Amino acid sequence: MRSNSCGELRTSDIGVNVDLCGWVDRRRDHGGVIFIDLRDRTGTVQITVDPEQGQALFKTAENLRNETVLHISGKIRNRPEEAINPKLPTGEIEILANKVNVLNPVTKNLPFSVSIHDNDEFTKEEIRLRHRYLDLRRDRMTRNLILRHNTVKAIRRFLETRNFIEVETPLLTKSTPEGARDYLVPSRVCEGEWFALPQSPQLFKQLLMIGGLERYYQIARCFRDEDLRSDRQPEFTQLDIEMSFASQEEIIQLNEELITSIWKEVKGVELSAPFTRITWEQSMSRFGTDRPDTRYGMELVDTSEILKSSGFKVFSNAVSSGGCVKCITVPEGNTNISNVRIKPGGDIFNEAQKCGAGGLAFIRVRDNGEIDTIGAIKDNLKTDDKDELLKQTNSSPGDLILFGAGPVEIVNKTLDRIRQFVAKELKLIPSNQWNFIWVTDFPMFEYNSDEKRLEALHHPFCAPNHEDIGTDQKSWQEKLPTANGQAYDLVLNGLEIGGGSLRIHDAELQQEVFQTIGLSKNQTQEQFGFLLDALSMGAPPHGGIAFGLDRIVMLLSGEESIRDTIAFPKTQQARCLMVQAPADVATEQLKDLHVASTWIAPNTKDDDQS
Ligand code: AMO
Repeated sequence: MRSNSCGELRTSDIGVNVDLCGWVDRRRDHGGVIFIDLRDRTGTVQITVDPEQGQALFKTAENLRNETVLHISGKIRNRPEEAINPKLPTGEIEILANKVNVLNPVTKNLPFSVSIHDNDEFTKEEIRLRHRYLDLRRDRMTRNLILRHNTVKAIRRFLETRNFIEVETPLLTKSTPEGARDYLVPSRVCEGEWFALPQSPQLFKQLLMIGGLERYYQIARCFRDEDLRSDRQPEFTQLDIEMSFASQEEIIQLNEELITSIWKEVKGVELSAPFTRITWEQSMSRFGTDRPDTRYGMELVDTSEILKSSGFKVFSNAVSSGGCVKCITVPEGNTNISNVRIKPGGDIFNEAQKCGAGGLAFIRVRDNGEIDTIGAIKDNLKTDDKDELLKQTNSSPGDLILFGAGPVEIVNKTLDRIRQFVAKELKLIPSNQWNFIWVTDFPMFEYNSDEKRLEALHHPFCAPNHEDIGTDQKSWQEKLPTANGQAYDLVLNGLEIGGGSLRIHDAELQQEVFQTIGLSKNQTQEQFGFLLDALSMGAPPHGGIAFGLDRIVMLLSGEESIRDTIAFPKTQQARCLMVQAPADVATEQLKDLHVASTWIAPNTKDDDQS
């Protein structure tokens, strides 16, 4: 139907007859001549419809609504000097139409404008998602999907040169524990039994290594029923990688090369490798999080020693009860942050409160090293201690020091959140910077106080550090709870883009780890018997990583939500607004699946009560 794409035509094509197809981006009536911006995936080009070319043709053009699907024929010519649009790649030319053929009219009102010319950035996301097919026609979304495609292409190209093979793993499977709830699918043929959709291909990729495949990757769809955020979808895509006979060092290096090649191919950016590394412990201490954003300073400083005897009860109590007093220094905070914002009711105070902090103590550093603060600290702080505090926090006149005091986890969480909030508010985050950082040596387990048991920080297949558990099997049970894992996360500008580890390839050790997280021998056998069997039949040492593809594309495209990098994403309530899923199903269908719903609609509940 067409000879060319709209966005590719240039002055070098002048005089050529073309056939183009696309959508009416907009139509302008200019006193007797009609201009149509015709749009396809590659961009827009101006079509000029002159009544001299025929009245019927002109009549058709006069009645075109935006988004009508057209086929046009015409000749490319120069635009008059005054009509040149330097912002448009096709801005120097136009096409004088001799045929305008409507392939499909628009018969309904458009819920929003697709054209790049209408500033509709403020169209509600809900409306965009309900009519995603229209949203996808917009330049921004088309560019994001093309960038996603280019990213996947770069990934495949790189991994294939390194002898990785792409293998698909099942979607109908058994629970693969990654810490979220499972999406379940009832089996019709195996009555009363359920499949789980994979939270990741973790177990299958390990089994592929045991199966001798040596180097695997997959662009893998994963499903997690968890609280959703701008960087989390219930259904998302991982670049999943696993390799045998490779050390942690080799895996990290290969993945740096992979990331470097993606950035080069997709963005034309030369990243400098090796990336920075930090241990989990250092990261928690310096940033209060295992996802440090290193594009700006304001690192956390532990001032417990200096302030435990400052006479300020909140500080001394925090330290004496096993907690800490930490702070961040906001440069020029005296000018930029008023007391109202850090006192109850203020926006920064509210951020702290969301993390469970009771308040935000502060010190303002004045000229000559004088400090301004709430009475109790100032009155009791010895001059030496004050000097030491200013030295440790590296603060100068004009700076604002914000404190968190209490249990270590709450203090870290609070100051991490405040640090990010303030950095954004005060525009301290440099643009166009790619700060990659590996976080290593994660603890194997964390305590789940609700369930009163240890749980795996990553997943229970991560190998512990050899030095932490030793070779004596008898002491594993005692040493495992405090061991660190051979695990590594890759963080970019404060967002976790990937995580992986070396895996346990020893059945005994795997069994011990299951026991540490509270699984009995029977439960282990029932849930993971197949893995223990496989580990006992010649499992090679192996390890790998998975990257969040949606997140990588989000960062590459400069978007703030992964929903803008996914063709058909779900809302915060895990719904697809376009096809209206999830939805009710017929009772017959449930019967076939041997399933009955226990859910009662709220209004039915009311009826019951009345
Ligand atoms: P993990 O759970 O860290 O590791 O997941 C790997 C990466 O996947 C991305 N990610 C998500 N992206 C969007 N929405 C979500 N709900 C979501 N959850 C995770 C993140 C994350 O870094 N099997 C292990 C990997 C391994 O050990 O090899 C795993 O899945 O970017």
